[in-house]
Amino acid sequence: MFRTSMRSMATAARKSLTIGLIPADGIGKEVIPAARTAIEALGSDIPTPKFVDLVAGFEAFTRTGVALPEETVEVLKNECDCALFGSVSSPSKKVVGYSSPIVALRKILDLYANIRPVLSVSPNPNESSKVDMIVVRENTECLYVKQEQQTVGEHGKEARATRLITERASTRIGKMAFELALARPRKHLTVIHKSNVLSVTDGLFRESVRAVPLRDPRFEAVTVAEQLVDSAVYRLFREPQIYDVMVAPNLYGDILSDAAAALVGSLGVVPSVNAGDDFVMGEPVHGSAPDIYGQGIANPVASIRSAALMLRHLGYADAAKRIDNAVDSVLREGQLLTPDLGGSAKTAEVTETITKRI
Ligand code: NAI
Ligand code: MG
Repeated sequence: MFRTSMRSMATAARKSLTIGLIPADGIGKEVIPAARTAIEALGSDIPTPKFVDLVAGFEAFTRTGVALPEETVEVLKNECDCALFGSVSSPSKKVVGYSSPIVALRKILDLYANIRPVLSVSPNPNESSKVDMIVVRENTECLYVKQEQQTVGEHGKEARATRLITERASTRIGKMAFELALARPRKHLTVIHKSNVLSVTDGLFRESVRAVPLRDPRFEAVTVAEQLVDSAVYRLFREPQIYDVMVAPNLYGDILSDAAAALVGSLGVVPSVNAGDDFVMGEPVHGSAPDIYGQGIANPVASIRSAALMLRHLGYADAAKRIDNAVDSVLREGQLLTPDLGGSAKTAEVTETITKRI
């Protein structure tokens, strides 16, 4: 897991911890309250948490015409130490005036790293996990700059997208990935790219990441490998144990981490944090899951683990560990699982049991 935070934001002076809660859409509304309950169960291991409910999402957009209210951004910037985001139901077709609030928030708050640990919990606590990797995804550029145009050419409609890769963003995500790898027992980093085809954009990403240890000799302790993104997915399924930390441009990282989630049973257990130098936002990797929304069966584990990851990043490693241990014990027993993991338990039951064990 995300064992040591790389840039633990100073914790000593904090008397209270203000946490913005943005459930947004669909099952986000069911799982973010579960994460809140888990944080509340920590008691004095963390400064007294103060929660602020904030609005964003597609549902808010259809109601008010605004997907990310100015007030949400201002409160996050000026009043919150950190935040938890649920999931948005972004439509697959262009809706005039709508733009995904999570993509916007990552940019506005400069949360340039999306850190996604994927961990399998082995039935025997003494056995090591079969899958134990962190996907470090660049969070601000690549195709997600969303500069798309459609024109009409000689043979009909033509669509183009700009893929932005900068040395600055690639270098800082590279540093984050090296720090994370350095803090783990295996100290192994795989750089994911497709520079055999996209030699300019992926070439710059690859070069920038590979140059990071040249400027910081601490990173010489990290072994570095490279893998083309398509064969990386192939090897991920065949031999997931070869991976420790993977670093990738935005789109590849998005796809790889969803794929890795399949190795540990469900998207419903994979957490993430969006991290910058001054702010951190926990966010389950999954989306709003319209197919199960409203049934009370969403797996709360991804959000509860995202809360743990967020706290670890803020420097509260013991509190984070208490949450993770409680989750591990429930998953290991296998008695109380939501349907995505083959059980029949409800969100509320799983949350209650985890909370009691915290
Ligand atoms: P999804 O992650 O919402 O769902 C994929 C599958 O996984 C579904 O079968 C769903 O039921 C299951 N699943 C996901 N989370 C689960 C949980 N906690 N417990 C149990 N089962 C769970 O992805 P999909 O269906 O591609 O997208 C649905 C909507 O979510 C779309 O509008 C998409 O734009 C949005 N989305 C939002 C994201 C975000 O807010 N960061 C990320 C990915 C998708
Ligand atoms: Mg995704």
